[in-house]
Amino acid sequence: MQKLLIKGGKKLSGSISISGSKNATLPILASTIFSKRITLSNVPMVKDIFTMAQLLEFIGLKIFLNKKNNSLKIFNKKQNLNTLAPYKLVKTMRAGILVLGPLLAKYRSAKISLPGGCAIGTRPVDLHLFALKKLGAKFKIKNGYIFATAKSGLKGNKINFPKISVGATENAVLAGFWAKGRTVLTNCAIEPEIIDLINFLKKLGGKIKVVKRKIVIDGVNTVKNISYRIMFDRIELGTYMIAGALAGNKLILNKVDPKIIKTEIKFLKKMGVKLLIKKDKVVLTKSKNLRSISLKTNPYPGFPTDLQAQMMVLMTKAKGVSKIQETIFENRFMHVPELRRMGAIIKINKNIAEIHGPTRLSGAEIMATDLRASVCLVLAGISAENRTIINRIYHLDRGYSNLEKKLRKCKATIRRI
Ligand code: UD1
Repeated sequence: MQKLLIKGGKKLSGSISISGSKNATLPILASTIFSKRITLSNVPMVKDIFTMAQLLEFIGLKIFLNKKNNSLKIFNKKQNLNTLAPYKLVKTMRAGILVLGPLLAKYRSAKISLPGGCAIGTRPVDLHLFALKKLGAKFKIKNGYIFATAKSGLKGNKINFPKISVGATENAVLAGFWAKGRTVLTNCAIEPEIIDLINFLKKLGGKIKVVKRKIVIDGVNTVKNISYRIMFDRIELGTYMIAGALAGNKLILNKVDPKIIKTEIKFLKKMGVKLLIKKDKVVLTKSKNLRSISLKTNPYPGFPTDLQAQMMVLMTKAKGVSKIQETIFENRFMHVPELRRMGAIIKINKNIAEIHGPTRLSGAEIMATDLRASVCLVLAGISAENRTIINRIYHLDRGYSNLEKKLRKCKATIRRI
């Protein structure tokens, strides 16, 4: 099993090009079930994207991946696709459930493996099914699979989500894109990745409007052949901004749109992080005397749960007691015992973590538990004294493109063994 070895205490300087967004690419890939010929650029070359590509190939699409220029060509020539998403491809990546909406809308039936539990919480799919039922789908759950049918096709309807969900909003947008008539979604998630999906669908020929948390879709039944550039990964950007705040001399983060991360910038500035915001880059310079803050994770435009673990590492360096309230997932403090082994003083009370700082972190052998927790341990290792060994790093490969290479280019001592 591979491990990461980090020698902490090095100052980071240099520039990093931020990759395309994994969470935007996944639903866009699912939507190619509607298409004929698509070229995607700025695709992050990470495991979850390869898994989604494998799933689409299993369904019957042809995918050509060019790792050198981060592009994907997708051909969908078959009249009838295989409408099955098997367990082996959905179990490692929940986003597999995103093919449900397109398959149901276009082929009127689908058999999709239930994604099952996940380290960060139970993560059910009831909201996905709730939305698709409103559009006329029927479901049976048997042998760990969702058997879905919509005999006379999906029909537009009004759907008010009882809870904000990124994935359920995406599945409903994808189904509404091909459903007959108008679909009106309210109380939607409006994460930038959803807006990227909508921009892609519009270019494909979709008629979609977004007003605050409302999305109005007029269904279509033809599509164009298009090329599309995926947006930057705002969570990768946030992660390297925190790396810069922890250990940066001067770190330049390129190929981004800072307007999308106003909340993250606000909280980092409140802590005393020195940031320079340019049109398409963020520059971090040495930050001293960091201050404690309190924050709550929330759906966009709130503070992202996917940056909570990384932020916690930064809080160990701030003077006073910082607080994080996790409101999205019920079990997302699994990185805390590992950070404690490195010397962090963190108390947990239900969904609130109290971080006492400043503390000096010291290297240890630790274990990664999920994607974002893994990268928080990398950040901790970079800012700690001595050597850190991180086990179970396969989680990192699901979502971070060339992590070690990017950090090494900025003078970090990190290698895979
Ligand atoms: C997406 C992101 C993930 C991010 C999360 C929240 C992708 C591929 N993943 O995950 O990185 O952490 O948004 O920003 O884009 N829920 C239900 N029923 C459902 C669906 C969700 O109760 O049917 C609950 C979840 O358990 C969770 C909350 O709703 O507590 C939010 O989950 P959701 O927004 O759906 O997250 P994902 O789409 O899975």
